[in-house]
Amino acid sequence: MPVFILVGGQWGDEGKGKIIDLLSEHAGMVIRSQGGNNAGHTVVNAGQEFRFHLIPSGILYPDTTCVIGNGVVLDPRVLLEEIEQIQRRGISVDRLLISDRAHLIMPWHPILDKLEEEQRGDDRLGTTWRGIGPAYADKIRRIGFRAGDLLKPRFLEKKLAFVLGKIKNPILQSLYAVDPLDQDAILAEYTSYGERLERFIVDIFPIVQRAVQGKQRILLEGAQGSMLDLDFGTYPYVTSSSPSAGGALTGSGIAPTRVDLTVGVFKAYTTRVGYGPLPTELTDALGEQIREVGREYGTTTGRPRRVGWFDACVARYSVALNGIGSIALTKLDVLDGFDPIRICTSYLSKGERHDYPMSNISHLKHSEPIYEELPGWLAPTTGVRRPEDLPKAARRYIDRLAELSGAPIDLVSVGASRDQTIWLDPSRLGPVEPVGQHQEEAGRHRQVPQR
Ligand code: GDP
Ligand code: IMO
Ligand code: MG
Repeated sequence: MPVFILVGGQWGDEGKGKIIDLLSEHAGMVIRSQGGNNAGHTVVNAGQEFRFHLIPSGILYPDTTCVIGNGVVLDPRVLLEEIEQIQRRGISVDRLLISDRAHLIMPWHPILDKLEEEQRGDDRLGTTWRGIGPAYADKIRRIGFRAGDLLKPRFLEKKLAFVLGKIKNPILQSLYAVDPLDQDAILAEYTSYGERLERFIVDIFPIVQRAVQGKQRILLEGAQGSMLDLDFGTYPYVTSSSPSAGGALTGSGIAPTRVDLTVGVFKAYTTRVGYGPLPTELTDALGEQIREVGREYGTTTGRPRRVGWFDACVARYSVALNGIGSIALTKLDVLDGFDPIRICTSYLSKGERHDYPMSNISHLKHSEPIYEELPGWLAPTTGVRRPEDLPKAARRYIDRLAELSGAPIDLVSVGASRDQTIWLDPSRLGPVEPVGQHQEEAGRHRQVPQR
């Protein structure tokens, strides 16, 4: 204790990686609780950029235990690559743990993900093709493979004979007319993953419960965002897990009564990768300009992100859905050159006003966003560290976002690196070093060797 849940408040890529890194400084444990390598979390430390897909972003701290929780779907090949990459950069993975309950991405999952997308044609979802949906579907169907299975070759062999031999290969061959997968080759491949990952795979339950009893902060690192939630997002244009606060609990084995604070990360505008409604989308030159200034290209797939104004209906919805008690607002600096700036305060659909995104995505898609216009500040904020040094119009924008969203904005990020952070109120998210002394390599932060 205390337990903090960190969630993305929009459609993912809100800058969670940076905020998790920042909050991990005082965390004994960071747990990824859902999603898989569809996530891409960027951390910039001492001028070096790290992109994490599976490893929790707290790994840059030498004393923080990083857990891949039971709710994650894990591609062992990708994880091993990621481990090797960060080891090459001088980062130890000695404190990494993998729940033996975490489900595995098997070779047929990315294949089926892509084939299903192709079959959808114009109605495709725009998935990351990482096999996330098919892996979660198999978990629910109770034909999934778990990390613990990697350590039991005979069990793995028997299960492969059933799942691959009786279900997946027949589907691949008869439904999609593609070659069947080789069972022996997969058994050899996954047995070797088991040998290489054995030291990380454990039953994390007692370890997490001990940590919950302890004094150090536990941070549940959310991936994706609430609008991609399987139940509350823009279904079917969502991911296959629950990136909301509820999913963080089932994905880690921590009880709701143990949670002290849910932190929501919001971008100062909106982005989305893939298809589905985005009510405030800017499809014109202005949107293009924001995309370029904000470098809005996917961390995982490199796809250009769709861009729009800040949507307070989405923020209000996320705050309510997740019980967000503290907001970290990112990428404010991207709006430095824009005037005026708009905020969507409600939607108009079929003559009615809506304060939350509607469950009917066709109504949402065709709704008219009602905007409020605020003056821009037309001044750089990337060098600002103290709240009182923010341009007045920027402060007005931040205060208005908090008011419309229904939760306090406690920190504002004005650049990718750790020190480009303005603490408006450190009381909820602290302890933090006094403003101005929050240097890149301060505290426990691991010294990253320069290339
Ligand atoms: P995540 O998936 O939520 O962790 O976000 P991503 O890492 O996919 O995308 C966020 C991008 O914005 C990354 O390239 C970050 O380095 C960058 N970033 C984070 N915070 C800020 C900020 O305040 N300003 C700017 N300009 N970039 C930021
Ligand atoms: P982070 O953690 C942004 C999107 C995909 C697609 C939809 C379904 O970096 O914020 P999937 O492969 O999950 O079945 O794709 O979800 N998506 C993300 N968008 N950030 C992410 O993660 C995402 N993870 C999945 O683009 O629209
Ligand atoms: Mg991302």
